[in-house]
Amino acid sequence: MTQGRPLLNRRLAEFGTTIFAEMSALAVRTGSINLGQGFPDTDGPEEIREAAVRALRAGHGNQYPPGPGIPELRTAIADHQQRRYGLAYDPDSEVLVTAGATEAIAAALLALVEPGDEVIALEPYYDSYAACIAMAGGTRVPVTLHPDADSGTYRLDLDELRAAVTSRTRLILLNTPHNPTGTVLTREELAAIAALACERDLLVVTDEVYEHLVFEGTHLPVAGFPGMRERTVTIGSAGKTFSFTGWKVGWVTAAPELVAAVRSAKQFLTYVSAGPFQYAVAEALRLPDSYFDGLRADLRAKRDLLSAGLTEAGFEVYRPAGTYFVTTDIRPLGGETDGFAFCRALPERCGVVAIPNAVFYDHQEAGRSKVRFAFCKREDVLREAVARLKGL
Ligand SMILES: Cc1ncc(COP(=O)(O)O)c(C=O)c1O
Repeated sequence: MTQGRPLLNRRLAEFGTTIFAEMSALAVRTGSINLGQGFPDTDGPEEIREAAVRALRAGHGNQYPPGPGIPELRTAIADHQQRRYGLAYDPDSEVLVTAGATEAIAAALLALVEPGDEVIALEPYYDSYAACIAMAGGTRVPVTLHPDADSGTYRLDLDELRAAVTSRTRLILLNTPHNPTGTVLTREELAAIAALACERDLLVVTDEVYEHLVFEGTHLPVAGFPGMRERTVTIGSAGKTFSFTGWKVGWVTAAPELVAAVRSAKQFLTYVSAGPFQYAVAEALRLPDSYFDGLRADLRAKRDLLSAGLTEAGFEVYRPAGTYFVTTDIRPLGGETDGFAFCRALPERCGVVAIPNAVFYDHQEAGRSKVRFAFCKREDVLREAVARLKGL
C-alpha cells in the first residue's frame, strides 16, 4: 500500500500469480511429473534449431529486426495461410510478427477495445484473455462451453452465443482448437459465428495456435467464412506447431487496417522480439507436410495413451479433438469434487501435477470438478504418469 491504496491497479487486482507458476513450482518441489503447463519436453526439429544457430552466427536478427517482422518470415506466414487454407494475405500490409501469440492477443485487445466495450470469450478460457480484456478496460462476457457426457466432448451453444451479444459488444474472442477443452469448432458452428459477427457488425479475434494439432475433424480458420476476412484478426504461433515455446514467435494475419491497429499497440509492448528465431521460424513454416503430419500423429498417439490411462485410473475423460490437453472429471474417483484441492494434493498423493479447470472460468462452479492434463510429453513420461495415477 502507498497513498492508502494497493500497488496493483484495480483492473489487474483479481489476477495474482498464474496457476501455472504455482503448479510448476509444486512439481519441482515434490519431484512430480508436470502435466500442468502446456509445453513439450522435447525440442522441435534439429534442422530448425540449426537454422537459428546459423542466423545468430551470420548476424541475422541480432539487432532490432523490422517492426512488423522480417520480410522472410512475413512471406512464409502468408504462404502458409495460402497453402493450408487458400487465404491470401499480403506479407507487407497484412502480416505482423509478435512476441508469441501472447503479445498478439494483448496487442489486438489493447488496440481494438475501448473501456466499456464487451468482449465475448468462450469459457473456459486461456488465462491471458481475461487479463488482457481487463488491461484494455473491456468487460468480458463468457459464453460457457458445455460438457456432453454422451459424446465425451464440450460443445458451444449457439443460442447462448447469440444471446450474449449486446449493443456494447465489440468483438468475439475465439479459440479453436480450444484450450483447455480440446474442442474444434465445426464448419456449421463457424458459419453461424461468422453470420452473427456480420449481422451485428462485430470484430473477431481468433486464437488458432493449435491449428496443426487437430485429431478429429479439420481446422477451419474463421477468416475464410463469408464476410469475415475484413473483420477477423487471426493469431498463430510457432510455439505449439514447432515445439519451441521458449522462442516466443507468433503472428497476426488480418486486413491492412486491422494489422495497422494491432501494430500501433504492439510497437509499445515489445516493439520487436526474437530476431534470429524469426529466420528459423521462416524455414520451419516451409517444412514439408510430412513434418506436420508427423507432429499430429505423435500427439494423437499420446492423447490416446493418456486418455486411456486416465479412464483406467477412474477419471471421466473428455476426448479432445485437438490441442494437447485432456479435460477430466474427478467425481467418479469417489468423493472428489473440488479440482483445486485435488490438484494441490495430487503431487503428494501420486507425484503428478495437473491444473484445475476452475481457473479458466468466471462461472467457477462450471469447472469445479474438472482437471486438465497436458499430453505433450515423452511417451515414457506419460506411461509413468499413468502408472502413478492408477495408484489413486
Ligand atoms: C490458447 C493459447 N493461446 C496462446 C498461447 C500462448 O502462445 P505463445 O507461447 O505463442 O505466446 C497458449 C499457450 O499455452 C495457448 O494455449
